[in-house]
Amino acid sequence: MEDKTIISKVAVFGTGTVGQTIARELVTQGYEVTIGTRNVKDSMSKTEPDNWGNQPVFKLMAEFEELKLETFEDAKVDKQLIVLAVSGSYAMEVLELAGQLPESLVVLDVTNPLDFSKGFPPSLFTDSTFSLAEKIQAKYPNIHIVKSLNTMTNAIMVNPESRTDAGNVFVCGNNADAKERVTLILKSFGWQESAILDLGDLTGARGMEMMMPMWIRLFQVRGNANFNWKIVE
Ligand SMILES: NC(=O)c1ccc[n+]([C@@H]2O[C@H](COP(=O)([O-])OP(=O)(O)OC[C@H]3O[C@@H](n4cnc5c(N)ncnc54)[C@H](OP(=O)(O)O)[C@@H]3O)[C@@H](O)[C@H]2O)c1
Repeated sequence: MEDKTIISKVAVFGTGTVGQTIARELVTQGYEVTIGTRNVKDSMSKTEPDNWGNQPVFKLMAEFEELKLETFEDAKVDKQLIVLAVSGSYAMEVLELAGQLPESLVVLDVTNPLDFSKGFPPSLFTDSTFSLAEKIQAKYPNIHIVKSLNTMTNAIMVNPESRTDAGNVFVCGNNADAKERVTLILKSFGWQESAILDLGDLTGARGMEMMMPMWIRLFQVRGNANFNWKIVE
């Protein structure tokens, strides 16, 4: 019988800084990783850092020869987990580009529903009654969305041990097995059991996504992204 907790093949949807950071960590740990993108040639031809100074994906590909870069549709084939790390505005579009998703696929949703159409700071294009994660789940009832890691900057996501106290990471989703699998990934990133806060079913994503306006305000006044949430009693 298949051990449902074991994940070895992962598609990371997203060539941005989050996709690259998570793909780098997973491939370093020995996972079979394929990064998903709209157009492989276009992504590989980008040679300049983006507006935030993040390195183009070709540099990461050059560093790890075992890492693959494929279209979203090809990248998802034979994978046990998809990490959804694309711009929140295009998350639905990206999943459509990916085509039919296998039954019971686990999707770790790291996105934030940020609307940059009026500049910075962005607003949210969702509201307190319906998160982006729930919107995705509603459209794809046969897969298991697990929301996590969206409340912190990418450097902390995969390296909480770089600080004495990294704070908390939240996780929520409707399927217990899927949450367990994602929790194992979080632990492999270095998150202690006591730091992982299970917020219950996927409605927990409303609060996780609504933390972003406050996160962005903190980013503005502090002048850096090097901080995280910590729940104290
Ligand atoms: N930056 C952080 O530290 C951080 C922390 C927590 C959560 N997040 C969230 O994580 C997600 C990824 O953030 P990011 O900064 O790494 O990257 P991003 O710039 O928000 O997204 C990059 C990805 O979005 C895709 N994309 C962009 N425009 C598209 C379009 N018109 N149609 C389809 N796909 C499009 C790109 O596809 P191509 O590969 O084809 O170009 C790329 O893979 C976001 O939802 C963000 O809010 C970010």
